[in-house]
Amino acid sequence: MRVLSGIQPTGRFHWGNYFGAIRQYIDLQHGNEAYYFIADLHALTTVRDPKQLRQNTLDAALDLLALGLEPEHAILFRQSDVPEVSELCWLLMTGTPMSMLENCHAYKDKMQKGLPAGAGLFTYPVLMAADILAYDSQIVPVGADQVQHIEVTRDLAGSFNHTYGETFVLPKAQTLDASAKVPGTDGEKMSKSYNNTLELFEEPKAMRKKIMRIVTDARPMEEPKEPEGDHLYQLYSLFANESERETMAAMYRKGGFGYGDVKKALADAAERYFAEPRARREELAAKPERVVEILADGASRARKKAAETLRRAQTNCGLRP
Ligand code: ADP
Ligand code: TRP
Repeated sequence: MRVLSGIQPTGRFHWGNYFGAIRQYIDLQHGNEAYYFIADLHALTTVRDPKQLRQNTLDAALDLLALGLEPEHAILFRQSDVPEVSELCWLLMTGTPMSMLENCHAYKDKMQKGLPAGAGLFTYPVLMAADILAYDSQIVPVGADQVQHIEVTRDLAGSFNHTYGETFVLPKAQTLDASAKVPGTDGEKMSKSYNNTLELFEEPKAMRKKIMRIVTDARPMEEPKEPEGDHLYQLYSLFANESERETMAAMYRKGGFGYGDVKKALADAAERYFAEPRARREELAAKPERVVEILADGASRARKKAAETLRRAQTNCGLRP
């Protein structure tokens, strides 16, 4: 299968991004033709500091590679290195009803809050459709919040095919495990917009501090507690194997322990879990030219595929012979 997904470089990746998305990308690189890109064009709708955008993009590449994305198995590239996508975006835009975009939640939410929205945010789903269609993607692994955009993609592709003849492959969303919704330090969904994140490659000391400050309820230590539904237990479960999980669950049910113990166990487990990627990241960060090379190679492979698709679309709609 041809698999594709993109992730925006809008800040440092956190545990939610990893367990909710990145881990699945890495699994899917085996046995599939996988395309993963850093969605820097999409990030432009929110990141307005050029230095920050450059840094975020490099960090995103380093993080993905350190976490196990292998350039021999997956094509890793920057969205903006494939200009064919922006051109394809225009072709799709000419067939996009305003009403379809007015219904898309990112724009709708802003409007409902009375916030100003730019044309970039409004047309964001069309650029995403171009990303997906450019590579004849069949499977698009995404979080539940992105499924609507895959529907838009299918609609736009279907209507282009209907008007101009078979041009695009209709993709399918593969929803990432909803149960993998990772809670943040305040117990709400972990998100950089809520300021409750635990970043993947935070300094171990700073990470430990943050973990120690995770909000817990104020029930007395002696009281037995139900682990399911407890966000600290959920976080611990991300890193623990089955027997460690069971031991922890039994401790909760028995009572007589402090949340401090769980936090410590969590910090230890997370540190162990990310030790190898952390070392790999440090090694790679010392060789930025290697990262540049990987991205350039990814871009040239991605462009080849996107150029074929663009050409097909241009021919079918009458722009080219
Ligand atoms: P943020 O909410 O921090 O801005 P993004 O919206 O950029 O994160 O998310 C990028 C990817 O990570 C998406 O596929 C999203 O579904 C996933 N993701 C983000 N936060 C979580 C979370 N708390 N639990 C599970 N998946 C998450
Ligand atoms: N909009 C996606 C997000 O915010 C990122 C993205 C851009 C993407 N283009 C894509 C995801 C194409 C999948 C396919 O998470």
